Amino acid sequence: MKATAIAHSNIALVKYWGKRDEKLILPQNSSISMTLDELFTTTTAEYSEEYKRNHILINEIQATEKEAIRINSHLELIKSIKNYNGFFKISTKNNFPKKAGLASSASGSAALSLAATSALNLELSKSDLSIIARRGSGSASRSIHGGFVKWNRGEHPDGRDSLATQLGDINHWPELTMIVTVLSLKEKKVSSRAGMKQTVKTSPLYPMWLNTIEDDLKTVEQALIDKNFQKMGSTVETNALKMHSTMHTTNPPIIYWEADSLLLMKKIISLREDSNIPCYFTMDAGPQVKILTLDKYVDEILENIQKKKRLEKYYICHTGKAAHTTEKHLF
Ligand code: PMV
Repeated sequence: MKATAIAHSNIALVKYWGKRDEKLILPQNSSISMTLDELFTTTTAEYSEEYKRNHILINEIQATEKEAIRINSHLELIKSIKNYNGFFKISTKNNFPKKAGLASSASGSAALSLAATSALNLELSKSDLSIIARRGSGSASRSIHGGFVKWNRGEHPDGRDSLATQLGDINHWPELTMIVTVLSLKEKKVSSRAGMKQTVKTSPLYPMWLNTIEDDLKTVEQALIDKNFQKMGSTVETNALKMHSTMHTTNPPIIYWEADSLLLMKKIISLREDSNIPCYFTMDAGPQVKILTLDKYVDEILENIQKKKRLEKYYICHTGKAAHTTEKHLF
C-alpha cells in the first residue's frame, strides 16, 4: 500500500529549547508556532511484506547512513503500533534547503509520520499523529496542524499529553507575514538536538529561560487572539534573543549567527525604530533571519534590506495548511 503526504514547515514564535526526556523527546517548555505555506516536504511511503529492508531516497539521492538511522528508527516506531514486520520504500523531497535552520526536520518528520501511517492504513487522530511526529523531531509535533499551533509540554512521563493543538486556523490572521531569508546555505555544525542538550547541561542562563517562558507563552497566545502585532512581535523577538543567549553561554559556546545575520537583525530594529515600519525578527538553530511583519509592509522591507546586498534567496510566507495526504505520488 502506497501513500503520499505533504507537511509544511513551521517557525516557532515562542521557542522550544531543551528536553526533559531525550528518548521520548519531551520538552522542558511548551512552544507556539506558525505553520508556513511556502516551505514544505512531500513524502511517499510504500509498505510491503516483500521488502527485506527500508529503501530511502531524500531529494532523489540515497539517504546517508546518519539520515537512514534516524528514519529507520522512526519507521520502527510506527510499525510497532500494530506489530507490522514488512519494510518501506520512502521518497521524500523538500522544496527548500535542508539542515539550514529552516525547520526541514519539522516538515520532514511530520510528512514521514503521515505518509507511513497512511500506507499502513492506520487512521490516526491529529493528536496521535502529533505524538508520533514528535518522536522524530520535537518541532514536527507542531507541523501536523495548520495556522497557529501550540505544543503543550505535557506532564505525563510517557509523553501521552505532550502534543500540539491548533490555536488559530489558516484564516485567523491572513495579513501576518514571515519573510524567511536565506543568508547562508552552509549546513550547521551543531544540530539542535545536540545543542539543546549541551545548553540544558551547562548554560547558567537556562534557569532564566524556564523562569520567563510561561509569561512569553501567555503574552503571545493573547496577542494572537487580539491580533496585536506590536505586542506579539516584541515578545517573539525577545524570546528568540533569550534562547540565543542560553546558546551563547553554553559550554562550549553555540553561535548560530553569521555576520550577515547580525547586520540584518540590526537593520530590522532600525527600520522599526527609525522608519516606523512594523517588523520584528526571530532566529532558530541556523544563520537565517525570519522577519515578522504585515502584508502591506513586505515590499518596503525587502527594498530596504536589499539596498546594500541582494539576498541570496527569500520566501514570503503566510500561514500554511495542516499536514495532508495527496494522490500525487513521488514514485
Ligand atoms: O525539533 P528540533 O530538534 O528541530 O528543534 C527545534 C529547535 C528550534 O527550532 C530552535 C526552536 C523551535 O521551537 O522550533
